[in-house]
Amino acid sequence: MSNPYEAAYRRSIQDPEGFWGEMAEDCHWFKKWDKVLDDSNKPFYRWFRGGEINTCYNGLDFQIDQGRGEQPALIYDSPVTETIKTFTYTRLRDQAALFAGVLADQGVQKGDRVIIYMPMIPEAVVAMYACARLGAVHSVVFGGFAANELATRIEDAKPKVMVSASCGIEVNRVVQYKPLLDQAIGLAASKPEKCIIYQRPVEKCELLPERDLDWEECMAKARPRDCVPVQATDPLYILYTSGTTGQPKGVVRDNGGHVVALKWTMKAVYDVDPGDVYWAASDIGWVVGHSYIVYAPLFKGCTSIMFEGKPVGTPDAGVFWRVISQHKVRTMFTAPTAFRAIKQRDPRAELLQNHDISDFKYLFLAGERLDPDTLHWAEKHLQVPVIDHWWQTETAWAIAANCLGLHQFPVKPGSPTKPAPGWNLQVLDQNNTPLPPGEIGTLAVKLPLPPGALPTLWNNDQGYIDKYLAEFPGSYTTADAGFLDEEGYVWVMSRTDDIINVAGHRLSTGAMEEILAEHPDVAECAVVGVEDPLKGQAPIGFLVLSAGVDRPEEEIEQECVQLIREKIGPVAAFKQATVVKRLPKTRSGKVLRGTIQKIADNKDYRAPATIDDPEILREMEESLERIGYAKAKK
Ligand code: COA
Ligand code: AMP
Repeated sequence: MSNPYEAAYRRSIQDPEGFWGEMAEDCHWFKKWDKVLDDSNKPFYRWFRGGEINTCYNGLDFQIDQGRGEQPALIYDSPVTETIKTFTYTRLRDQAALFAGVLADQGVQKGDRVIIYMPMIPEAVVAMYACARLGAVHSVVFGGFAANELATRIEDAKPKVMVSASCGIEVNRVVQYKPLLDQAIGLAASKPEKCIIYQRPVEKCELLPERDLDWEECMAKARPRDCVPVQATDPLYILYTSGTTGQPKGVVRDNGGHVVALKWTMKAVYDVDPGDVYWAASDIGWVVGHSYIVYAPLFKGCTSIMFEGKPVGTPDAGVFWRVISQHKVRTMFTAPTAFRAIKQRDPRAELLQNHDISDFKYLFLAGERLDPDTLHWAEKHLQVPVIDHWWQTETAWAIAANCLGLHQFPVKPGSPTKPAPGWNLQVLDQNNTPLPPGEIGTLAVKLPLPPGALPTLWNNDQGYIDKYLAEFPGSYTTADAGFLDEEGYVWVMSRTDDIINVAGHRLSTGAMEEILAEHPDVAECAVVGVEDPLKGQAPIGFLVLSAGVDRPEEEIEQECVQLIREKIGPVAAFKQATVVKRLPKTRSGKVLRGTIQKIADNKDYRAPATIDDPEILREMEESLERIGYAKAKK
């Protein structure tokens, strides 16, 4: 007999217009759509063509209309500043409307871009909703990126205005944002007209009189603005993510499909209802933060927690339990790495004993592979279902999950369960032929992608085709390899490109190689992601020096580590570079990164038949042992 998941899945694939059209009735529209799915310009599909909507209205005003004005919308919990602040829906709406006035005073209109470079403070949420209110397109940049990365995004998005803060707070240091902002604007050819800076009491910064405006002063002078209806197909935001080169990809999110799909996921995937407390412990700079801190919980009328801290060290490995207990969190979402960090510090979860977490019902994890050890540890100590789900910046929500609001399947450790409704997931071989259960291929989604998924890349339709659609005509490639088993469970095994996953953060080894290659003493290099017990993977750089370089190798290695930190940022967690005599390559000159990775992780490997000189692999083993990898790791 079919269960509600199977019925929903089947309908979403066979009758996507009927399925999503029905879900869209649950949202607020200024004007209803003419067509649920416009497929007149394949391979570009657009959802809810002709509909007029406003994302801010759906997240805030619509909730107030329905009587939730006095309910907390956002609880800001910041152990690093010892602050807890609650924003009701009315207060958050009023703040967003006022900041929309601030942006409008600076000439920001529908379609203009606004870059938000801010730490995890409520003003960032206010700024995002203010943009949505005006129909402006926000692009949030994660605080752990360096000026150079910010500059690339400024260059691509061409923001009219930027919004930032004086500083962010890490466990052991205050990160000044203003010097990074100034440097990035200096590097970018197209400059924003104005920067609006929120001065945090912890550390204020100097403002440039011509360019910078003080957040509080602007708010005091502004008048609130109403929501501007936009086309469902108009962009809500751009979120840049790592591609295979140093040039990040600007993933576009539209307004209509995003509201519809995300609101629906709150019940279908996470089994939460209006009024429930939902906590995504991520950062607004990542897609998880966009989808499940800022937007979806409020579309659904929940209370969302914004946490400015870390799983350990702020102040200890019990902080997650404190937050769950204090705010009566029902559902939590984070990355496995956060739980590995807690497990390392408090292996028997002794700090949990101090907290009553009886309201807590589910833990969801995503962002990287969920290793069975971490899964079992969390299940044992929390005594709630621990649910792995798989998704990407591009998709905005889960491609595969145990959709608890539809049907709870038994958990298979290592699998994010089944494709979520809307995702016609296939496993394809190189000839675009679907593979039978159990066989590994590329995980690809037959078009059309469901609402919420990227319709294109910012100003780069051809790039969207080249990067996602060209390899398997008629399908979107996730660039993840994996398989479906006999019962239809999804298994995500590895990336098919050079992306690595460090503490749930997606990083391009190609981008790091481009930077290392700029070092004057480096002739050739390779960056490989090796296994790391805390972060899942960690990048290591292998450097071949130019002939005649006679400086100490350690000095060059350190300079390379510093170079990545300066150019990409601390988030790259690039701590190790090592000089080698040569890199193992195929006869056609391709660096054998996969083989290096296997040697480093102490996995069985066979010298590929195409290798130009197998002796290099022995040299590689020695180099890796020297820095504590390969056999030394055993
Ligand atoms: N602004 C400035 N710097 C930042 C930053 C920010 N917003 N976020 C991180 N950094 C810095 C850190 O301070 C660190 O710098 P360091 O090299 O000087 O120590 C570096 O970037 C790496 O950060 P991170 O990956 O967070 O490592 P960590 O060692 O500080 O913490 C964990 C490890 C596991 C605790 C941490 O990664 C974590 O909390 N992960 C949770 C999962 C998560 O948020 N995933 C996102 C997708 S769901
Ligand atoms: P990001 O775009 O930063 O969210 O990274 C997306 C990538 O993270 C995916 O393509 C996968 O490689 C990986 N990923 C995310 N969630 C999972 C998961 N549950 N299991 C395995 N890999 C995952």
